[in-house]
Amino acid sequence: MTKFFLMTLIVSILICPQEGYANIPSASLNSGTQDKALSEYIKKFNFTSPVKDSSKNLPLYELGRELFFSTKMSLAGDISCAHCHHPTRGTGDNLPLAIGTGAEGDIAFRVQGNAGITTRNSPALWNRSLKSVKSLFWDGRVSFHKNENYVMTPSELLSGKDPILADVAKEMINAAAAQALFPPTSTLEMKGPLLDGEPEDIVWNAILENLLKEENLRSFFSFAYPGVEELNIGHVGKAIAHFEEIEFFVNDTPWDDYLSGQKEALSIAEKRGAILFMDKAKCAECHSGERFSDNSFENIMIADIGMKEAPNDMGRFDVTAKDEDKYKFLTPGLRNISQTAPYMHNGLFATLEEVIDHYDHPMRTLMHFNPEVLNERFGKFYNEKFVRSWDREKVKAQFDNKSSKLAMNLRLTEQEKEDLLLFLEKSLTSKKIK
Ligand code: HEC
Ligand code: HEC
Repeated sequence: MTKFFLMTLIVSILICPQEGYANIPSASLNSGTQDKALSEYIKKFNFTSPVKDSSKNLPLYELGRELFFSTKMSLAGDISCAHCHHPTRGTGDNLPLAIGTGAEGDIAFRVQGNAGITTRNSPALWNRSLKSVKSLFWDGRVSFHKNENYVMTPSELLSGKDPILADVAKEMINAAAAQALFPPTSTLEMKGPLLDGEPEDIVWNAILENLLKEENLRSFFSFAYPGVEELNIGHVGKAIAHFEEIEFFVNDTPWDDYLSGQKEALSIAEKRGAILFMDKAKCAECHSGERFSDNSFENIMIADIGMKEAPNDMGRFDVTAKDEDKYKFLTPGLRNISQTAPYMHNGLFATLEEVIDHYDHPMRTLMHFNPEVLNERFGKFYNEKFVRSWDREKVKAQFDNKSSKLAMNLRLTEQEKEDLLLFLEKSLTSKKIK
């Protein structure tokens, strides 16, 4: 261990955990006092239940569903959105890093084969298609600017107030509609080596052409967009986003019942967990509001791991090129979080217990996380091995830029960890699941 780390470790052990806002020893509260404390925190952190932006448009929803499950969205015709965001896998793939086009096996059990491996974890899609979602992707490279009604994307053809592909941009009604156009152009995810080096619009036209060759899909398009003569890839994105908005909308968790005034919707232990989430454990510093995300980008000291080599993933910095954004990733929402393991932008934690242990003392992850545990758990899916960067300079740079809202030493007791886990696992899970 270097002197630097020894010092920070000692300092972080010596500094007492900061007190909860209201100094309420949550373990000793009865249900009535718990409700009173919670109602203050709910106000303070702006917790509400999500509201849909639109009601279900059946033909558009059905087209979106067909497209979401269609392998024609990939040039090689072997992978769909659902391969990495499957409804039965919590809208993810249950893998640390995603396996792209070229894999072996079918959707039920795919192994790497000739596929590339993404550098990031497939995020869950619950409540990701609401207008209140400002940015998508772990680095926020797709964003929706609600007031002025335009999107920013990795393609200059489709970014800003006066985009080159104006017809496509017209259909971009939220961030999800724009996001859906980029997995198909990603070499690692859905495109593969075909049309290499071509601009996005060439790839999009090829995909649209392939989709429209399918008679069955053509009729879904004509029901969804009656009278539209010139279909473009924007119509594809908009339909997928509408399907996601309806299908992956969650506002029926016990927590939502509690917000609507049903005090008995949470048990005393769950309420203890909720209070911990908002005071001692400081989770609501970032996981707040309608979706348990304040839309911020934060560096929470996740070790840099990757397949074969560590990517030195700088997250938000890749989009903004601002030093202050190095190693920051988008704060994810937390409804249905029990369904969406593994966790974090690179999937390094397999359970919520591990996530809680991380927040208890984040220094441990940054300094000691050993990727061998991933090879043991997930080795059968991959040809290559997970490794991490132990580069001292990089680790120090990541430590130096850590979020000021992240506590270094929470000192949660075993009981507190259990209560927090119960809140995440039970109170935030839709009643449709189980
Ligand atoms: C090979 C696996 C794979 C496929 C196929 C795939 N995705 Fe993803 N998806 C990912 C990964 C990995 C990320 C995160 C990438 C990043 O942040 O850099 C992601 C991110 C997303 C996000 C952003 C979520 C958030 O919270 O920021 C959405 C929405 C999404 N995908 C929808 C789709 C749709 C729609 C399709 C089909 C058109 C699709 N995905 C195809 C793996 C995949
Ligand atoms: C400083 C802001 C911040 C605080 C405080 C915070 N989080 Fe997070 N949380 C994030 C960010 C950012 C990520 C994604 C980080 C990454 O992948 O690098 C995340 C990821 C997670 C995930 C994984 C989500 C997924 O889909 O993979 C869970 C679960 C979680 N946080 C729960 C908690 C809990 C419980 C607490 C309190 C003990 C907490 N968070 C405190 C910002 C924060």
